[in-house]
Amino acid sequence: MDIDLILRNATLPDGRAGLDIAVAGGRIVGIERGIPGPAGTEIDAAGHLVAPPFVDCHFHMDATLSLGRPRLNESGTLLEGIALWGELKPLLTPEAVIERALRYCDLAVAQGLLAVRSHVDICDDRLLAVDALLAVKREVAPYLDLQLVAFPQDGYLRSPTAAHNLERALDRGVEVVGGIPHFERTMAEGAESLRRLCAIAADRGLRVDIHCDETDDPLSRHVETLAAETVRHGLQGRVAGSHLTSMHSMDNYYVSKLLALMAEADLHVVANPLINIVLQGRHDTYPKRRGLTRVPEEMAAGLTVAFGQDCCMDPWYSLGSADMLDVAHMGLHVAQMTGRAAMRTCFEAVTTHAAAVMGLQDYGLRVGAYGDFVLVQARDPIEAIRLRATRLAVVRRGRVIARTPPRVADLALAGRPGRVDPAAYAPVAGEAPDAR
Ligand code: FE2
Repeated sequence: MDIDLILRNATLPDGRAGLDIAVAGGRIVGIERGIPGPAGTEIDAAGHLVAPPFVDCHFHMDATLSLGRPRLNESGTLLEGIALWGELKPLLTPEAVIERALRYCDLAVAQGLLAVRSHVDICDDRLLAVDALLAVKREVAPYLDLQLVAFPQDGYLRSPTAAHNLERALDRGVEVVGGIPHFERTMAEGAESLRRLCAIAADRGLRVDIHCDETDDPLSRHVETLAAETVRHGLQGRVAGSHLTSMHSMDNYYVSKLLALMAEADLHVVANPLINIVLQGRHDTYPKRRGLTRVPEEMAAGLTVAFGQDCCMDPWYSLGSADMLDVAHMGLHVAQMTGRAAMRTCFEAVTTHAAAVMGLQDYGLRVGAYGDFVLVQARDPIEAIRLRATRLAVVRRGRVIARTPPRVADLALAGRPGRVDPAAYAPVAGEAPDAR
């Protein structure tokens, strides 16, 4: 068998070290010590971490990199962001949406982010952004998996043409059903929107991803309806509740019932820590709520919980860099997940868990999976998050598609010149037992 690529001396996220990974025909054909060459390409991982690609299962590619157009979000709130997007929408051109999206995909690939689920607003009768992102999906397919969600930003029932447009978008190839029940006019209409959207998904055999309860209102309980409809339609394991920030503020007794209902539905949870921490709590004085959903408790209930980026330089968020380690870093802090196992789980929230939310096939570091992985300038997932470590090489189907030089500073200290990774940590040998 001709081997296209061997990556030598890798450390895997589960701690196994000193392994070679071989790829042939676009798929992993071996993960073991001392795989004999030759190969078309050989890379020395030098003991660094090799991870499956980063996955962002909640993003808005139609709005990305539009910061400041036509103006900035002065209040910093979700609602002003939605209003601002409404001002920009009629000004969009296909060319501009495509160019911004392609630029974003370049940033993503450079950071080892090779799969993105993007919501696309269907509340524009032209479906301009839908067609533009479908074109982008085809163009980037060789190097990035782009999955699109038909998202009725202005409300599935509240916007007069959203229901029709959502069906049109699905007919054109958008593959996931979206919704925004907390933005409908009433709680009852929010629940009704979920009943209809889940029915559409069941009829068409599609997945569901709902912007659900993205509010600080503890009585915003649409996730309850989402879980119930998931069970009713047999959609277990195919439905994601994105944001779920109202759960932060809910009554504890009610949550104890809700978590069991969510587990029964095998509901996927997508928290968006960068966005939740800046958009939620805006109506509070002090204390200010964090607004992140109850991530550790959801994980303890057996739910698949992923972290999404949501926004990058758009009407809702003026920062972001397509770096899922940045997202994991924020999620870890806001959820106070500082235990060793918890920090490793935060890494999974932007890799394997996010891949499960998207339903990615043949993902992961195992024989038979796609030859997709990222060489990171770190020893393990915790160090990768701590340093937001450099992505030294990004491999897709056994081909290196991005490289970044290692981060090293040249020092000129009196009597001690040398080279150092400015963020690196090394224990002092013999000082005390290493409990890490
Ligand atoms: Fe979103």
